[in-house]
Amino acid sequence: MIVINSPQNPTGGVLTLDDLRKIGELARKHDLLILSDEIYSEIYYADRPASILDVPNILDRVLFVNGFSKIYAMTGWRLGYGVVPEDTFPTIELFVNNSVSSAATFTQRAALEAFTPETEKATERMVAEFRKRRDVFADGLNSIPGIHCLKPLGAFYLFPNLSEAGLSSDEFANRLLSEAGVAALPGTAFGDYGEGYLRLSFANSLADIQAALERIRNFVSQV
Ligand SMILES: Cc1ncc(COP(=O)(O)O)c(C=O)c1O
Repeated sequence: MIVINSPQNPTGGVLTLDDLRKIGELARKHDLLILSDEIYSEIYYADRPASILDVPNILDRVLFVNGFSKIYAMTGWRLGYGVVPEDTFPTIELFVNNSVSSAATFTQRAALEAFTPETEKATERMVAEFRKRRDVFADGLNSIPGIHCLKPLGAFYLFPNLSEAGLSSDEFANRLLSEAGVAALPGTAFGDYGEGYLRLSFANSLADIQAALERIRNFVSQV
């Protein structure tokens, strides 16, 4: 199975339709399934991200998953859904029955609010607010000597490179929390290739982001 997640956690990166087509070809060539986690599909800052569902003749090998956690700010409410090939369904049903059983009733009732026009407007406002936070946070980080940060095209994370600071990602994240009170994940929490990077979330207020920037600036000037 090939597992993809676009827009992506932790980098905010977005796969192009061409990337997805090539992943489809690879899957066909090697007879693999593709699990596509598109939980950040509505949180984007340029063109609407392509979906694996945009690739022609691929549905027989795609497990598409999405959920309410991000765009409806229902993190922790444990409500998601999948669209899967029919022949995989009995196995998935067995797994879901014996792991999470079912979604809680009150969560399902709350999620009905997601399908109202008011919620659609609210999510547009939320994404516009995320864009502001992304720009302030990324510009602020890039003004700190030794930190280099791309502006992500989706999701709500920044993944700055801090290798010039002279600390490992793990040490940087631990010391940033204990000495400066800013919580971040080391890039290595997502695998070895994350060394030299930090994951910061901008699902937080602009005031907190500005305070965090000052603290990161002070921290970096002292290490
Ligand atoms: C890639 C990805 N998929 C799914 C989720 C959401 O999971 P859940 O629906 O369990 O809240 C997250 C949240 O962090 C995520 O980053």
